[in-house]
Amino acid sequence: IEVDEFDLVVFGASGDLAHRKLIPALYHRCCDGQLPENARIIASSRRKYSDDDYKAWAREALSEHVGDVDADALEVFLARLHYVTIDIGSGEGWDDLRTILDERPDVIRAFYLAVGPDLFGTICKSIGDAGLVTDKTRVVIEKPIGKDGASAKTLNDNVGGVFDEHQIFRIDHYLGKETVQNLMALRFANALFEPLWNAAHIDHVQITVAEALGTGGRAGYYDTAGALRDMVQNHILQLLCLVAMEPPESMNADSVRDEKLKVLKALAPITEATADKLTVRGQYKAGASAGGAVPGYLEELGRDDSTTETFVALKAEIANWRWAGVPFYLRTGKRLAQRVSEIVVQFRPIPHSIFDEEAGTISANRLIIRLQPDEGVQMKVMIKDPGPGGMRLREVPLDMSFAEAFKVRNPDAYERLIMDVIRGNQTLFMRRDEVDAAWAWVDPILAAWANSKETPRGYTAGTWGPSASIALVERDGRTWAEDG
Ligand code: BG6
Repeated sequence: IEVDEFDLVVFGASGDLAHRKLIPALYHRCCDGQLPENARIIASSRRKYSDDDYKAWAREALSEHVGDVDADALEVFLARLHYVTIDIGSGEGWDDLRTILDERPDVIRAFYLAVGPDLFGTICKSIGDAGLVTDKTRVVIEKPIGKDGASAKTLNDNVGGVFDEHQIFRIDHYLGKETVQNLMALRFANALFEPLWNAAHIDHVQITVAEALGTGGRAGYYDTAGALRDMVQNHILQLLCLVAMEPPESMNADSVRDEKLKVLKALAPITEATADKLTVRGQYKAGASAGGAVPGYLEELGRDDSTTETFVALKAEIANWRWAGVPFYLRTGKRLAQRVSEIVVQFRPIPHSIFDEEAGTISANRLIIRLQPDEGVQMKVMIKDPGPGGMRLREVPLDMSFAEAFKVRNPDAYERLIMDVIRGNQTLFMRRDEVDAAWAWVDPILAAWANSKETPRGYTAGTWGPSASIALVERDGRTWAEDG
């Protein structure tokens, strides 16, 4: 369905995010007939490009990241691109942008800040000073939203000085992933799960976001962040919220975000006294990944004194009626054995077995929500081995692979999220108080680490992280699902 007429201004339009994600996402939405004929994508950066230069740049981005680009569709898409040079430092170029936008003051106007967070405040202020905010204006920002609660507050104050909260779209691209949205469908469009979705029936939950890649060309940024800030404060806590939240009243943005906020506030604090027991930090050393030998983190960084963690495992608890006593084991890291993101909901064992020893072990049911690769949902259940023999039991997956079930291209998270910005739907975007609550839980962990004499444990690239992370769950008599 076509969205309403809009002008989308992208700052940092010649950068990496635009190249890999934004331009490809917009191209796909255009191919699917979602961009109105007069929609304008106004790209902007410091580079002195003409419209045609930028179109050439976009063409190149699409051939690299989309691959099979349809020649006619490409022309239709490129016709929507415009370019204006803006130098944020000197302030040059804002008049040009105003002239372009003033041509259509009544259409939806979105500003996408695909730039570093240190520029958010300046750009927002300039947008305000240039008189570009209309009542149909929205602004999009993306993590890192601060490096702790205090810096997040400053950043949000700066953006909030120009835009109202209902105009601010804080992207967490994990919320745009198909399977993540399916988690909501699974929980709230089926009667089957909700009655079991609590401490009485669920033993524990695991959330793993494992990456095979290293820090790539981003070691500079990454070293100031680390895995806790880069992945847990945002993506993983958001996933945890969707698993743990109470049923919202509706899909309305504030109903959903109110429920997520309650989960974040109910997270039991991890303090200096408990951090050693409840958290494990790691940093990769040289090893092997699918492509062959790879260097260690410090070698990639070109320094040998960094204690930035490239892996973290945590045992979190949500102190409320539904979840008391149910651990949420969270882990994420770079240069792990494989790229896999999944949520595993482990149910409690059956209370009593009626089968004799020949039946074998009866595994407790498990629901696996796989985000990537091979998106899908699996329910592990016990069945009888076929045949006339005795009663031998086996665990099999009731499988729902999205690629099999729907023979359609799986849209990238950004496609969904950009269109939600245009539609003004904030359900899949983080509200300011969520960001604050997430930092309020993460800050004491960072402080505990900063005050600890221990440094991250080394792990060999291409493995599942430090063995202490295995001990973290084994101490509780559990294991990480299907690792290693
Ligand atoms: C980003 C992090 O937010 O998410 C990266 O900054 C990480 O470090 C990336 O690699 C992972 O996203 P995805 O969609 O590839 O799982």
